[in-house]
Amino acid sequence: MLSQNHLHVSLLYIVLLTGTKYGCGGGGCGACTVMVSKYDQLNNRVLHYTVNACLQPICTLHGAAVVTVEGIGSTKTKLHPVQERIAKAHGSQCGFCTPGMVMSMYTLLRNKPHPTMEDIREALGGNLCRCTGYRPIIDGFKTFCDVSNASENGEGCCQNGESGGNPGCRENEMELFHMDNVLPLDPSQDLIFPPELMKRACGSLCFQGDRLKLISPVDLTNLLELKTEYPEAPVVVGNTTIGINLLLCHLLFVIYLLCVHVHAGVSMGAVCTLSSLKEEMERAVREMEAERTRGYQALLQTLQCLAGKQIRNMATIGGNILSANPKYDLNSVLAALDCTLQVMSKENGTRAITLNEELFTGFGKTALRPDEVLLSIDIPYSKPWEFVSAFRQAQRREFAFSIVNAGMKVLFREGTNIVESLNIYYGGVGPTLVKVGRTCQKLVGRSWGEDLLADACRLLEEEVELSDSAHGGKVEYRKTLTTSFFFKFYMQVLQELRERDVNVCLLPLEYLSALNVCLFPLQLVSNAQSSQDPVGHPMMHQAAFHQATGEAQYYDDIPAVQGELFVFMVTSTRAHAKIINIDPSEALGMTGVVTFLSAGDVPGQNRRMLFNNPEELFAEEEVSCVGQIIGAVVAESREQARRAAQMVKVTYQDLLPVFFTIEEAIQHQSFFDPKRKLERGDVDKAFETVDQILEDEIYLGGQEHFYMETQGLIAVPKGENGELELFVASQHSAYTQEVVGITLGIDSNKITCHVRRLGGAFGGKVMKIASLSAITATAAVKTGRPVRCVLERGDDMLITSGRHPFLGKYKVGYNNDGTIMAADITYYSNGGCTLNESLAIMEKALLHMDNGYKIPNLRGRGLVCKTYLPSYTAFRGFGGPQGLMVMESVLHEVAVKCGLPPQKVREINMYREEECYTHHKQLFSPRDMLRCWDECLDKAGYHDRLQAIQQFNTSNRWKKRGISAVPMKFGVGFSKGFFNQGAALVNIYKDGSVLVAHGGTEMGQGINTKALQIASRILKVPMSSIHIKETCTGNVPNAAPSAASFGTDAVGMAVKDACEKLMRRLKPFMENHPKYTWQQWVINQHPPGYPNAVTVWVSRGPHTDMDWENSEGPAYYYFTFGACCSEVEIDCLTGDHKNLRTDIVMDVGRSLNPALDIGQIEGGFVQGIGLYTIEELQFSLEGVLMTRGPSQYKIPALCDVPPQFNVHLLANAQNPHAIYRSKGIGEPPVFLASTIFFAIKEAVAAARRERGLGDSFPLSSPATAERIRMACEDQFTEMAPSPKKGTFKPWSINI
Ligand SMILES: Cc1cc2nc3c(=O)[nH]c(=O)nc-3n(C[C@H](O)[C@H](O)[C@H](O)COP(=O)(O)OP(=O)(O)OC[C@H]3O[C@@H](n4cnc5c(N)ncnc54)[C@H](O)[C@@H]3O)c2cc1C
Ligand code: FES
Ligand code: FES
Repeated sequence: MLSQNHLHVSLLYIVLLTGTKYGCGGGGCGACTVMVSKYDQLNNRVLHYTVNACLQPICTLHGAAVVTVEGIGSTKTKLHPVQERIAKAHGSQCGFCTPGMVMSMYTLLRNKPHPTMEDIREALGGNLCRCTGYRPIIDGFKTFCDVSNASENGEGCCQNGESGGNPGCRENEMELFHMDNVLPLDPSQDLIFPPELMKRACGSLCFQGDRLKLISPVDLTNLLELKTEYPEAPVVVGNTTIGINLLLCHLLFVIYLLCVHVHAGVSMGAVCTLSSLKEEMERAVREMEAERTRGYQALLQTLQCLAGKQIRNMATIGGNILSANPKYDLNSVLAALDCTLQVMSKENGTRAITLNEELFTGFGKTALRPDEVLLSIDIPYSKPWEFVSAFRQAQRREFAFSIVNAGMKVLFREGTNIVESLNIYYGGVGPTLVKVGRTCQKLVGRSWGEDLLADACRLLEEEVELSDSAHGGKVEYRKTLTTSFFFKFYMQVLQELRERDVNVCLLPLEYLSALNVCLFPLQLVSNAQSSQDPVGHPMMHQAAFHQATGEAQYYDDIPAVQGELFVFMVTSTRAHAKIINIDPSEALGMTGVVTFLSAGDVPGQNRRMLFNNPEELFAEEEVSCVGQIIGAVVAESREQARRAAQMVKVTYQDLLPVFFTIEEAIQHQSFFDPKRKLERGDVDKAFETVDQILEDEIYLGGQEHFYMETQGLIAVPKGENGELELFVASQHSAYTQEVVGITLGIDSNKITCHVRRLGGAFGGKVMKIASLSAITATAAVKTGRPVRCVLERGDDMLITSGRHPFLGKYKVGYNNDGTIMAADITYYSNGGCTLNESLAIMEKALLHMDNGYKIPNLRGRGLVCKTYLPSYTAFRGFGGPQGLMVMESVLHEVAVKCGLPPQKVREINMYREEECYTHHKQLFSPRDMLRCWDECLDKAGYHDRLQAIQQFNTSNRWKKRGISAVPMKFGVGFSKGFFNQGAALVNIYKDGSVLVAHGGTEMGQGINTKALQIASRILKVPMSSIHIKETCTGNVPNAAPSAASFGTDAVGMAVKDACEKLMRRLKPFMENHPKYTWQQWVINQHPPGYPNAVTVWVSRGPHTDMDWENSEGPAYYYFTFGACCSEVEIDCLTGDHKNLRTDIVMDVGRSLNPALDIGQIEGGFVQGIGLYTIEELQFSLEGVLMTRGPSQYKIPALCDVPPQFNVHLLANAQNPHAIYRSKGIGEPPVFLASTIFFAIKEAVAAARRERGLGDSFPLSSPATAERIRMACEDQFTEMAPSPKKGTFKPWSINI
């Protein structure tokens, strides 16, 4: 039974089960994947397919069966093999993506019990994971493939023992994940489709709500009648475009699939899904002569990369066309193919219209009359002398909207190379589909040769108009892509003509590389450490089964309690302005709205000092960024609060100055205090004696955390003594408790924070969650009712911000042999409008600036820029990835200038003595770093591959490869000593069971699992007898944040100490009764004053503290070392790149749990791939973040993981400073992905050298497709020169 409010609501909000997760609400992450089954009456079969529940309107599921993750297995009954295998293969870290992954795989197996690896890759293409790096997920799922299918991963798969692979990887892999005792897949156990749904009568349905009406027509005639009655009502089919902008007035929805065939080509019903279209095209290509299906092949090329499987299952071809969005891929190809649309209305019957540029009258608008509906699309067969191609280039290789797409078709006079007709269409170069008609016309009658190519490029340059301020930015890149795509088309056709013995100009062999499609074989293989190594066991994540079944509870899974309210933030729309007035009256008058909060409602302090800088909960007089919280609406429901928040009117008076970029902050000298400096040696003097001096800079963009679970909490007032309980997604519950106390003006002992687990955090849930908690707590206290706050993805990205952008300006003095004698680096970070943790982050950047290099004279300055942007905050690595990256840039550029291989320059400058001092005078031994480096180069076969790459590059003009290796030294622990402590409480109950509580937070890294392993070892009881429930400020007070890679070190030591204390108490009794069982010992051991519970605080190891005045101090407990080598291939014409292979050797000391540690290494590395190559934040000129969801902001997907990804743990590594000689591992691996950046730089340099250009050139991070393409300067980029600064208004800015 649906309430009126639920009519438009997606399935996600209806299921009310914990397994279907909200990650983005826009079809972009896959966390909400469920399986829908429908009876197909036409073919008398049941169809099973995945959908994104967040886009699936509940009304459209009439007659369908929906299976969620809860429906396939549970820990209480029996797990489904898919759930079991992802868990056992360590494919679930924070677990927030896990149910979605499970449902994608489950649905695949329902349709195909013996899938191929390609099937798995396709099925998971629409599911994002921010934690694992995907490898373990694939490892678990590939066990469902037949052996023959599993090995169809392309060449060199080490699994099938072919050459080029890694001998022994299978053996190693089995150590992490045993296939013994796993449940077999038994399709007979699957849920059956409810038979009653096969018999349902198809009648018209009408759902009437207070704001909208949904009508499901019974047949076409009914649909046409309805369209006449409600001409403005959109036809909802897949809902993947409409769903995003839902909440319109009248909606009609169609639920039939039409797919018919006619003799002149394929005619697709307009409501045919993109998955069915793909299947239909594949069938046609399989069954018909290749000549007739060239167009279909081109369509398939596009469909392979278009969205994820779930979206393709929902989205329709008609919807794709009529959404009239130039970024959608199909129109350019379908138009090039001269497709015809059959449209129909009640009044005028059927008419055929050509799909061309005239169909599109504006963005989102078509020439269809309001009462018309699209019936079908006729896609003609190709003619004998016709050649077709489709092109697209996106931010990410798959599951991303294209930046530019194109469809091209040429018809030749039979047996010749004379052009008879030419069709070229582009999407993404204007608000509508663009036909370059003039260009095409002028090329008709010409021979397909070099003259035509030159003229075509010139004509395209003239005809494709894109203003310098065009929407979407990337103007030069987009222009370049238009000619580059044509060049690819030209080459492809030329080759085909040659194959047909048509007399065309000769093609240099190396030019053919323009045509190679970047294949992406899936061969994710781990080279984990062998069982002979003296390390801990690869125990499965303690909660993995619960995560895989959807039973694991995150804060928003806690059922609503009686009277619960919802709070929604009202944020600033101005970057710098005085608040003149806040008028919530309209919002307060709306149904369900309970109250509005602003600064005046805060009972305690609204303003508090953070590192001596003020932070406000609610902006009081002024706002200093877009996204700053001004107020909050509290209402009975999520939806009511959301709508009402939009109705709060804030009047502003704009203030000056207003600026956003680091460059502008430097001009305004706008910096936070204090500024930091570190120095060793005499830098200025050293510059006087060196052979060469180089001055340069590198810019590094920021990064959004994109944890899969957005921030939020539930605040519950207890009604007695002002007590309050918070169920909160915080990495630092003690800080949250403190801030809530300050805000409410009550003592911490009345506030209890509970944290069960987080769906990822990566540093983003330390600080801002405390402010959100304080606001929610204020709402709870004001209303006296429980209040829930769940940030929507867009608000989360806007309000909470992420990793700091950095600019590193450097002067380096070196000798001609590559020895660096002096470096002077100034780091600028964009801190945003308040200091937050920016100072500590800058300090970490400076403390890491030497990496593994002994540069005798080294100076670093760190300035945090104050700008009018949301305040940047902690993110995995905490400044380390930026500090290290600038130094690696220095090394790279020196190598280029010296004409030496970068790895040689790195080796020349490395720390080598047994006892070394960092630039902040901390003693360490680089031995293990050098071992990692040597082993890494060796295992990667660096030197041989370097030669092979050089060979590849000379024989390929448009594809280039690069390889790069870097070493790493990374400090573990907090440089403020007082944070380096852990606490634990261990209770032993009379039945022998043990409850461990500690101050760390489980966010996927496996801290609970490691704590259990430690407790189990000391207490000598199985892990299954020990339980960890939650992190709670009531059990373990004043705990440090789980951060700085230090969580396990601190907590592990505390758990160990607590358990040892208990064992010491038990020992005499145990010795007296050696035959007793554990339970007997525990029951009988009750001497007064010796309870079986103990809380300990541990702060051990070397003291850390930095003396910034004197540039010295032990800043870290110890250093974790590593080395990484990566190879990439770039497409010089599009900027596309693929990660070919990565080898990592990592020193984690004596790993407590290799499976978890390898998971952290792989996950961190893949997050680094995002940081250095894909993830790009875009801000408008007004300082508004425009990339606010997975559609605009791309984190790495499965397609970005190197097909050969080998992680090795350094053998015989030791660490006297941490628990059982292990090492912290959370943060360091992020930086290792800089190898991908430098490998790209090498590949670009190879392209430039060939064109006689210098191989020293600027490349900012991330190395996006746009930046790679524009750095590969050539005749095409010359046609799209950059406009002069100041002569135009750019669409976005680099902050
Ligand atoms: C996460 C995500 C990723 C995506 N990635 C890509 C991508 O990479 N490339 C790409 O090309 N697209 C992509 N898309 C867009 C997707 O392909 C389109 O949203 C989809 O094809 C629209 O089809 P639909 O059935 O869902 O349309 P709906 O949302 O149901 O409708 C869209 C519009 O078409 C109209 N309409 C639909 N059918 C008819 C009809 N028969 N007669 C009259 N009007 C009709 C509707 O009234 C509405 O105006 C993506 C979408 C999402 C959500
Ligand atoms: S929540 Fe549905 S796809 Fe992200
Ligand atoms: S385990 Fe995939 S998002 Fe955390």
